[in-house]
Amino acid sequence: MKRVLVTGGCGFIGSNFIRLIHDERPDWQIINADVLTYAANPYNLSDLQDSDRYHFEQVDIADGAAVKTLFENHQPDWVFHFAAESHVDRSIHGPEAFIRTNVMGTFALLEAARHTWGDFQDKLFLHVSTDEVYGSLGDTGLFTEETSYDPSSPYSASKASSDHLVRAYHRTYGLPMKLTNCSNNYGPYQFPEKLLPVMILNAAEGKDLPVYGDGKNVRDWLQVTDHCRAIVAVAEQGRMGETYNVGGNCERSNLQVVEAICRGVAAYLKVDAETILNRIIFVKDRPGHDFRYAIDSSKLQGETDWAPSVQFEEGLQDTIAWYLENADWIEQVRSGAYRQWMELNYTERQEA
Ligand code: NAD
Ligand code: TYD
Repeated sequence: MKRVLVTGGCGFIGSNFIRLIHDERPDWQIINADVLTYAANPYNLSDLQDSDRYHFEQVDIADGAAVKTLFENHQPDWVFHFAAESHVDRSIHGPEAFIRTNVMGTFALLEAARHTWGDFQDKLFLHVSTDEVYGSLGDTGLFTEETSYDPSSPYSASKASSDHLVRAYHRTYGLPMKLTNCSNNYGPYQFPEKLLPVMILNAAEGKDLPVYGDGKNVRDWLQVTDHCRAIVAVAEQGRMGETYNVGGNCERSNLQVVEAICRGVAAYLKVDAETILNRIIFVKDRPGHDFRYAIDSSKLQGETDWAPSVQFEEGLQDTIAWYLENADWIEQVRSGAYRQWMELNYTERQEA
């Protein structure tokens, strides 16, 4: 049995990752360490509760002593580090939590790994990061693994810091690590503060669809299970000490995405698409809003057997269906914290 520690496994990507490895890697023993912030939902994995290959621990990764105890108690062979504060707009309103979790939390995990892993034999620290560390592209070009870091938001700056720390631990202490920088994910279990779930739910509930700025900003979309499969491929087939960019080769402007959601929701509900499209509104832009992200994933595709498998239009329609068929999940995550955020972010934008 390989003992696998997943941090942030009750969040969007972590939940999808744990489900995938539980199903497809029967010789992996999974420990999920998550402090359960507003973005987490332990019920995402409630069907695994009785599995003898799954164990949950409520741990704050920024608490160095607790992380050390976690490593000592569970002796993980491999670490998949997903836990983070992950929302750019929240990082603009309150950057401190991002520094604490993303920088100090990663530091605490690296220290625990360094001190409990002995000679590092057969160990792996896989750090899950974002393409946002590279900053913004203009109309052309792609991010490669050689692109210089140039983060724009407190979120991307905190992720950039964590990436540097992970690489520094490899160079300085020989810590066995691999790093992935992925583009925007979509799919089930994404907290309804990010573009797709905000728009799907607002479209279905007859609310306005708030597009930041002129809607021309471009993101490169990847279905979440494709991202999770890429992480497994890097862990099993990638080279130690290397970085791999992960992307779907699927660039869309935000307006294109929102219009596709309007049509998809209308088709699902069997209502007129024009009524939903007419509710698109343009609101005050995000400060420091990166114009375009686009990933060159040829290194990953050249060195492993991974390739994206889900077409955006098909994945989007499945995602729309998931949100509209899982009203209980939506209710669970719409806590008081969720309502305060919607009030703070969107009221202020529309007053502009
Ligand atoms: P998320 O916000 O949905 O989930 C984050 C999880 O981390 C939550 O379960 C939360 O409780 C947990 N967490 C937060 N602070 C913690 C702490 N101090 N201690 C322990 N657990 C803590 O995020 P996500 O979208 O699933 O992103 C996961 C990772 O993937 C992040 O590192 C993010 O930077 C990266 N990433 C995300 C995307 C994307 O499109 N969502 C793209 C590329 C990379
Ligand atoms: P988001 O889902 O927050 O991801 P990220 O900022 O990490 O790329 O936003 C995706 C894009 O959608 C980004 O360009 C901002 C834009 N956006 C809107 O136009 N309206 C919204 O309500 C949200 C949440 C995002």
